[in-house]
Order: sequence, then C-alpha cells, then structure tokens
Amino acid sequence: MATVIRIEEIAQHVGQEVTIRGWLYAKTDKGRLQFLQVRDGTGIVQAVAFRREVTPQVFERAQAVTRESSMVLTGTVRADSRAPGYPGGYELGLSDMRILQLAYDYPITPKEHGVDFLMEHRHLWLRSTRQWAILRVRATIVKAIRDWLDDKGFLLVDTPLLTPAACEGTTTLFETDYFGTPAFLSQSGQLYNEATIGAFGRTYCFGPAFRAEKSKTRRHIMELWMVEPEAAYVELDECMEIEEQLVTHIAQTVLNERRVELDIVERDVSNLEVIAPPFPRITYDEAVERINDLGKDEEISIEWGEDLRSPHETLLSEQFDKPVFVHHYPTAIKAFYMAQEPDRPEVCRSVDLLAPEGFGEIIGGGERSGDPAFLERQIETHNLPKDAYRWYLELRQYGGVPHSGFGLGIERTVCWICKLPHIREAIAFPRMLGQMYP
Ligand code: 4AD
Ligand code: MG
Repeated sequence: MATVIRIEEIAQHVGQEVTIRGWLYAKTDKGRLQFLQVRDGTGIVQAVAFRREVTPQVFERAQAVTRESSMVLTGTVRADSRAPGYPGGYELGLSDMRILQLAYDYPITPKEHGVDFLMEHRHLWLRSTRQWAILRVRATIVKAIRDWLDDKGFLLVDTPLLTPAACEGTTTLFETDYFGTPAFLSQSGQLYNEATIGAFGRTYCFGPAFRAEKSKTRRHIMELWMVEPEAAYVELDECMEIEEQLVTHIAQTVLNERRVELDIVERDVSNLEVIAPPFPRITYDEAVERINDLGKDEEISIEWGEDLRSPHETLLSEQFDKPVFVHHYPTAIKAFYMAQEPDRPEVCRSVDLLAPEGFGEIIGGGERSGDPAFLERQIETHNLPKDAYRWYLELRQYGGVPHSGFGLGIERTVCWICKLPHIREAIAFPRMLGQMYP
C-alpha cells in the first residue's frame, strides 16, 4: 500500500509511490496519454496515464473520468519543472486509479459564467482555483491576527451574539424573538469587550457581526466576521500603533506563507511589501480638505460634518501607498461611545483605517468615553434604550480607565490583501441584500 499524501507536501515524495485522494479538476486527452489535473483541497497535480504502463481497466477509467468526479490515484512522483499545478513542478506517473463517484453535468465549465450563476452555485464555485486561493489567504489572515494578539497579551473572550441593545446604532439591527422579548443580532462585541478588559486588561473577541444594511455595494455584507481588540490604559495614539503593527503582521504573514495563492489571484505583491509602520495619520479636517481638492475634477465633494462615503474613501486612500489613519471625526456622526476631544468637543477620538489602492475602511475604532454623564446624554440623543445600557455605565463607576479598541473587518481585509473587486468572494457563503442561497 502506497502512502497517502496531500498534494501540498508532494515535493517530499519525489521517486516514491504515493496515493492521492481527490477530484478531477480538468483533463486533456492525447490518445495514448491522459493528463488528469487532480485537486485534493491542498493543491493541484497532473497525473499522467500512459496506456502502456497501466492495465486496460485503469486506462479506461482515466479516459472516462469526468470533471469533479471523486477518485483515488496511485502513482510515482516525478519532478518536472514544466508540470502545471499548485505547487507545480511535480507529476504523478499513474499506476492505479479508482473512481468513487463519476460526476455528471458539472455546471461550472471553463467558459465564462455570469456572477448570478456563480453565486447560485457558490457551493461548487468554491472548488475553482481562484476561490480556493482567496479562502486560503483568508484563513491565513485569521490565523495571523489571532497569533499576533495572543502573543501581545490580548486574551480571547467571546462575546454574545444575541443582545438586548445596539452597539453601532439602531438603523442596522436585525431583530429576533427571544422568548417573547425582542433581541438583536450583535453588530459588534465592543461594549462587552469594555467589560472584559476590566477583568483581563487586554482582550479581543472574534466572531460574526450582523448589519442589516439595505445597501447593495461591493463593500457591504449582512454577516461579516470581525476581530475586536480592546485594551485598558491605551489612548488614541497607542491604539493606532497597535493597529499598524497588527495590519503589518497580516500583510507580512500572507506574503511569507501564501505566495502561490497571491499569484493565482494575480496580486501585485509589491504593493503589500511596502506595508510597514508608521502609517500616515491625517485628521478628519484634513481629509475633508484633501477630498474637496482632489475631487474637483470628478465632482466629488464633502462638507465638514458629513461622514466619509465610499467615493471619498477611495479618493483619499488612493493618495497613499500604505493604509492611512483618519482620526478625530465629528462627534455627531460617530457611535455614542466615542470620547470627545476635551478642547474641541465637536470632534471625537475616533479613528478609521483606510486601506490603500482605493479600498477604503477596513478598521473602525478609537478611544472610548469615560464620562458617565456624557454617555447618558449620548444614549438619549441616539434614542437608545437606557435600561439596556445600565451595566455599561456601571463600568465607569468601578475603576474607569482610559481605554481604546477597534474592529477589523475580515472580508474587507481579504478584499484588500487579494485585491478583490467585490466582497462576495471574500467569504465562503456571503449574505447580501436579497441573497441567502445557498
Ligand atoms: O466601523 P465599525 O462599524 O466599528 C465597530 O463596529 C466598532 N464597534 C468596532 C470596535 O471599535 N470594536 O465596523 C468595524 C469594521 C469596519 O471597518 C469594516 O471593516 C467592517 O467592520 N464592517 C463591514 N464589513 C463588511 N460589510 C459590512 N456591512 C460592514 N460593517 C462593518
Ligand atoms: Mg466604521
């Protein structure tokens, strides 16, 4: 019995007889020679069936096998620099082959399909090389984040998904029924993080967040994954330092570990190689000025006090080759918990991080208010149910400290790292406006 291997480790098995268990990705029929592109989830390798070297039954199977049929192949690994695949450079000289299930009418063919068709077949589309590469990069991004935070003393504390009140405002809440009382799907774990740092100093939560945004854009999904670090005794400046270190670690890790995948998605890696601290920092005031200046020709403009919209962010982030911090937004347009700037209460200690190449916001965060009277007024101004925030205000009563935190959206980050034109490719099963299948 030959050893079962995974294609990603094929380089270690040159000259050996091995078994690969996978699916047929593509096939070329050259008469006496059948070239099978086999994928097993970790890579793609070319298996070659030569009529003279296998039994007639095995050769018949190689001829008959169809796209996406499941199969178990045995053969000898040969190094061949011309051999296609991922990692590429190796070939399997087939000696035996068994088909587990012969697929028929696989709907995704090498011809171009429309996006609607592909989304309808997302459960199968994931098998295509590009989607495979993107989701492998995503997994590496998630691991890089967790490793970095764990190493820097942030403790993972999971926060609830069923919540009694809003974190980011009432307009994007998904309401559900909690045994007769309304409950909401969490928009963010932040308010709970502010409690857990009282117990652990530095924490993070990592999970899904829900936004009922009736907007159909290339940047919005309803169910996103967010990592949210929070730290006691950290003010706005240090918060930005933590963000730039984390984001640099993400870019470096993907560059080190996912070259093949970046190649598949045709990412120009030179744009990632320059990511290193410090990132440029501009105030909201300066951002408004720059946008009005840069946008003149395209008739893009913004008035002080308005929130930055996608075209504004795109315009700004195109100006920098690194991610750029925009800080001190108007208090009135940010969430209720943002700390006011003492000498200038119309702005707050909020900060967004905009990814370069026009990608826009990937992180939102800042320093939290420690002033219970201000927070109480904000809860009223924002029309939030006071009772549900009682515990949150109590945090300011028992050892309040300056503290900051942020939320990094995984899908937006995947979009930037892989340079994806649309967020739907950044998550396995996106939830978008009017789309829940599969
Ligand atoms: O800027 P947001 O709304 O910030 C918060 O939720 C804070 N409570 C986080 C914190 O300070 N702990 O969301 C944070 C990030 C955004 O920058 C974006 O990357 C992502 O979450 N995000 C979305 N991504 C895709 N689709 C959506 N509808 C998103 N909404 C937010
Ligand atoms: Mg935001």
